[in-house]
Amino acid sequence: MLTGKFRDFLSWHIYQIYPRSFLDTNGDGIGDLRGVTAKLDYLKELGINAIWLCPCYKSPNEDNGYDVEDYRDIMDEFGTMDDIRELIDQMHKRGMKIIMDLVPNHTSSRHKWFQESRKSKDNPYSDYYYWFDAPPNDWQSMFGGSAYQFDEGRGQYYLHTYAVGQPDLNWENPAVVKEMQAVVDFWVDMGVDGFRVDVIDQISKDFNGANCFGPRLHEFIHALFGRDKTKHLFTVGECWADNIEEVRRHAAPERDELSTLFQFDHQDIGRADKFTYVPTGMQELWNRLCAWQERMQENGLLYSLFTDNHDNGWLISRIGNDKQLRYETATCVAAMVYLLRGACFIYQGQEFGMTNSCHDSIEEFDDVESKNMYAELIKTMTPEQAIAKINFGGRDNTRRPMCWNGGEGCGFTTAKPWMPFHTLADKINLERDQAAEKSVWRFYRDLLALRCATPALTVGSFAKADLGEGCCAFVREAEGSKVFVVCNFEQENQIRLPESCGKLLLSNYGHKEKKTGCFQPFEIAVFELN
Ligand code: NOJ
Repeated sequence: MLTGKFRDFLSWHIYQIYPRSFLDTNGDGIGDLRGVTAKLDYLKELGINAIWLCPCYKSPNEDNGYDVEDYRDIMDEFGTMDDIRELIDQMHKRGMKIIMDLVPNHTSSRHKWFQESRKSKDNPYSDYYYWFDAPPNDWQSMFGGSAYQFDEGRGQYYLHTYAVGQPDLNWENPAVVKEMQAVVDFWVDMGVDGFRVDVIDQISKDFNGANCFGPRLHEFIHALFGRDKTKHLFTVGECWADNIEEVRRHAAPERDELSTLFQFDHQDIGRADKFTYVPTGMQELWNRLCAWQERMQENGLLYSLFTDNHDNGWLISRIGNDKQLRYETATCVAAMVYLLRGACFIYQGQEFGMTNSCHDSIEEFDDVESKNMYAELIKTMTPEQAIAKINFGGRDNTRRPMCWNGGEGCGFTTAKPWMPFHTLADKINLERDQAAEKSVWRFYRDLLALRCATPALTVGSFAKADLGEGCCAFVREAEGSKVFVVCNFEQENQIRLPESCGKLLLSNYGHKEKKTGCFQPFEIAVFELN
């Protein structure tokens, strides 16, 4: 069982906000911090008690804020330091927590540290980044091309695991560790409650091996979050590398490193690679979720429950049926994921069942990864084939402005939006969903309320159950109360329920009671167990 500080995090319902696309309050077509403050009551109503704010620091936006120019200032388009103070204040007044996005692996090439570092080999900042006379290996940038870039100023190559404008910080230099501790402390003093930590598995490098889980990773993370000033924080590390033993070590409470990690095993379903669709059923999603749930539970570790974020197309567009059975798919996935044991993360737009968008031209995209990928793809295929891949896997699917309603500006802006809206904005938007008989939003609200009110669903243990083919089931149990969750997959299915199934607590088919018998496509049911 989870004890102490991590136990509380099991009841955190964290809403991820991509500020650029959330709500524009000053009519420039770009979302801003005041827009976030304006929607706090909306989020509370949904059952959210914390937000993770994607980077809002000063940035030239080569990678939409993940290229930080100043960790202690706000991006001009998003507002001011006063706006963030007001947001933190308003959140705390409502009993909500705020998690900032910390980007410790790299800065923008416009950051003062890099501007100084590139000037010479012997100034106070010269070792803040990794410099080489020649590339030491053949690492590739995550956004395409070599990970090493020649810099005229210094006459050497620097490492950039991501875009050219995102040089990697050299954590071997103790001054860098100190700088990043000071950044963390600055935001802790501002009152934030935690951090989502960008590509944390990459900050320690092994230039003879892979660019992740380097030899000093534990030490560096501990230096950030294992201090008296930081131990109480909620910290979630982004960890793309799929290594369960390392993940388990980093999340072990006694090590004072991270509260939990995002891992992406269940994100890789429905695709051969990020841009190539392969049909995959719910069973595969369940197998992967279940394996991680069991392994994290073994040692009482905190698991992170999420389906979507700003780095992938929508999950319900990769599995299930996001056309005819969009409501059913979205609600079934929600039950399968958020009734498990862990901290919950919900991405903006997910709560009303957003799906992938479909555009004709690369001009309608903004993302550096998609643009680089498109340039590569058209070397070997037609523009139509290339754009289809970008439509499927591109990060802009989840980054397009929020569709609060289906009108002009979608309730997001009164100006031209910084990026075109989803092509489905008139059909899939919050207002329409809330007015519909089958509302994804209402299902999320009911699910989160049930979670909150039911200790078995927050702090309870997890045990897989077997009801036969084509569905999954599990039991959550705490303090003598037991809850039983059944999720049917795509086909209609005869399901024999355990005799002990009592009151029906939640249904996505509007049932008031449910007995052994036929389950509809993607039907879920949650029972009290007698
Ligand atoms: C992961 C972030 O989620 C992604 O959006 C970003 O491009 C990379 N890290 C680089 O910071």
